[in-house]
Amino acid sequence: MKLKKNLVAATMLAGSMTALSFLSAGAAQAQGALVMYCGVQEEWCRAMVGAFERDTGIKVSMTRKSSGEIFAQIKAEAANPRADIWWGGTGDPHMQAAEEGLTVEYKSPKLGELQDWAVRQWEQSKQRTVGIYSGALGFGYNTELAQTNNVPELKCWADLLKPELRDEVQVADPNSSGTAYTLLATIVQIMGEDKGFEYLKALHKNVNQYTKSGAAPAKAMAQGETTAGIAFMHDIVTMIVDKAPVKVVAPCEGTGYEIGSMSIIKGAKNLENAKKFYDWALTADAQKLGAEAKSYQVPSNRNTPVPPQAPKLTDIKLINFDFAKYGSSEERRRLLSKWDSEVKNLPK
Ligand code: F6P
Repeated sequence: MKLKKNLVAATMLAGSMTALSFLSAGAAQAQGALVMYCGVQEEWCRAMVGAFERDTGIKVSMTRKSSGEIFAQIKAEAANPRADIWWGGTGDPHMQAAEEGLTVEYKSPKLGELQDWAVRQWEQSKQRTVGIYSGALGFGYNTELAQTNNVPELKCWADLLKPELRDEVQVADPNSSGTAYTLLATIVQIMGEDKGFEYLKALHKNVNQYTKSGAAPAKAMAQGETTAGIAFMHDIVTMIVDKAPVKVVAPCEGTGYEIGSMSIIKGAKNLENAKKFYDWALTADAQKLGAEAKSYQVPSNRNTPVPPQAPKLTDIKLINFDFAKYGSSEERRRLLSKWDSEVKNLPK
């Protein structure tokens, strides 16, 4: 009875997941395969699934969602976990899941090949999540629309408040999107909490839409649906590589960055396969698939070449982002609920 209730709840919560993928996930578990929640762009998720299936013969059932959405789903399913591995998405909800005991410790033999920042993520989470890539937050603008709307050159976070950008800035909702939560935590760290919230309230006047996914504003900018968009710089670069008339900006005040992460779900039904995927995903070869799928983050394996298109972190004024604080359950919950009550529903 309880199981049935859980199944009904899980099905309802699955949101965009189709009935078919749910059934096939059940079948995959029965065969001892792998159920994966994927937090990066669909193309990269699919490339990872295809290559892992080819390399190991393990069948993967994958669902792609934004970082905060995956966290909410894993939490809702905790009594009867559906997924085995959570690969990708910003580190903050992975850290929160680690603290809340939704994920398990694992020490991969590949750890020694990783950049320090990736290992630090693993240490700070008490071995429950590990860094798989990194990338800086920024914004971009459509140069053609900027010219039409007489928008001056944009260089700083402060420039996004310009009256010429009224209803012309797009950004995601930090509840669903790790990108937008990174913005919230970045602004608070750069400006202090009071001034930071004043900034976010002022920005709200210029926001035309809070999207679910963090990369959506980059796509909207490329398609000429919004003049400016806040996103990870690598997601904006993907649009530029595809020849969109877009300029990417590393904000002059400095900016935050993410450590995209991977965790094994507590109670995973295919635990051994989850570990196999974890080790495989940390290899230099598996990490090369990102750039092939036009995802230009900095890979965490030191032997994976950094894609030449990847924004150079050493050239960007990065803040000393406090991943432990802003990934803690208490702080993340507090900031999100403050943003909901003080910013999201403000009249314009
Ligand atoms: O794959 C693109 C990407 O920007 C990742 O670098 C990041 O971890 C993830 O998407 C964040 O997505 P969202 O903001 O939708 O949670």
